Amino acid sequence: MRNIVEVNNLKAYYITEAFGIERTVKAVDGISLQIKTGEVYGIAGESGCGKSTLLKVLLGAHQPPLTIVDGSVKYFFDGAEIATLSLDHNSLRDLRWKEVSYIPQGSMHVLNPVRRIRDTFYDFITAHAPFGKAESTEMTRVYLRGLGLPEKVLAAYPHQLSGGMRQRVTIALATILSPKLIFADEPTTALDVIVQRGVIQLLKEIQQKEGSTIVLITHDLGVHANLADRIGVLYAGKLVEEADKYTILKEPRHPYTQYLINSLPRLDERAERVSIPGRPPALDNPPTGCRFHPRCPFAMDKCRTDDPELLPILPGHRVACHLVADGLVVEEASYATAR
Ligand SMILES: Nc1ncnc2c1ncn2[C@@H]1O[C@H](COP(=O)(O)OP(=O)(O)OP(=O)(O)O)[C@@H](O)[C@H]1O
Ligand code: SF4
Ligand SMILES: [Mg+2]
Repeated sequence: MRNIVEVNNLKAYYITEAFGIERTVKAVDGISLQIKTGEVYGIAGESGCGKSTLLKVLLGAHQPPLTIVDGSVKYFFDGAEIATLSLDHNSLRDLRWKEVSYIPQGSMHVLNPVRRIRDTFYDFITAHAPFGKAESTEMTRVYLRGLGLPEKVLAAYPHQLSGGMRQRVTIALATILSPKLIFADEPTTALDVIVQRGVIQLLKEIQQKEGSTIVLITHDLGVHANLADRIGVLYAGKLVEEADKYTILKEPRHPYTQYLINSLPRLDERAERVSIPGRPPALDNPPTGCRFHPRCPFAMDKCRTDDPELLPILPGHRVACHLVADGLVVEEASYATAR
């Protein structure tokens, strides 16, 4: 499968100054990854690890104080390479929605509260594509019907819809122009479990029908388990593990990923849930060496000084951990004694 996005050594910092004191938050710090055409690439990690920041840069939607310090982001559309970080505002605008779309975190507020849904679709479609009123209305009707959304939502105002329906309409709006690449930031967060299922199903349907590539950000590994093909795990601004979904869920090798998996609610009531000790570090002064070392039960001396490289340990499986690189297996069972 060909790559649709390539990210190389990306560093994006929030650089601010107050009372003459400069503060640099290293929210994305040396990330390299490749996203394949047609896959759902999940980005996981605790709150504050840099997921939304990474997405903003991948989308070309970063603004000061967020500053690109190093690295590159490239899209590949129909064989053409586009270096997104050097695109100007107009070129980015041309790509947005038709080629690349975005379902933002907290997207409940995207819909215009004083416009009926059909008018919002009309405004959106005609702003980005050469369609008239009749065409855009028909297109909206056909698209919503195809996604199993009731036609009556078209006449409604956003406040007349349930939270789950509003989110589904927002997702339909972001995808109606058949973008090749969809970035979704926490699309199911703040929804109850039943509604979440509907939103996950909708994203699956769009992906299958349109063959789009989805970059899905959520801290919820249950959602990744449902939707993602591959998962990248972020910790404190760095990619610490990446593999296909089954490997991440069943055979994670990075101690942080193992904690994330072990802290998931289990169907088996007897299985003990292991919560992650401590908190993620502040990214204006991250720990030296491996950023996970203050919380890692396996930390060795070199973990405190040397930043582990993200290395392939098997085809398609990359891990950034000295213990793994040294060939020592971090067994899940050893958590019982390490805790
Ligand atoms: N405008 C800003 N100025 C300074 N620091 C910021 C700004 N926005 C975010 N940060 C910091 O950057 C880091 C990464 O934030 P980001 O929002 O990318 O995390 P996240 O993984 O998306 O978290 P969440 O799961 O809570 O959405 C955090 O330490 C955050 O405090
Ligand atoms: S590099 Fe060291 S501190 Fe970091 S996760 Fe691996 S064992 Fe733990
Ligand atoms: Mg976020």
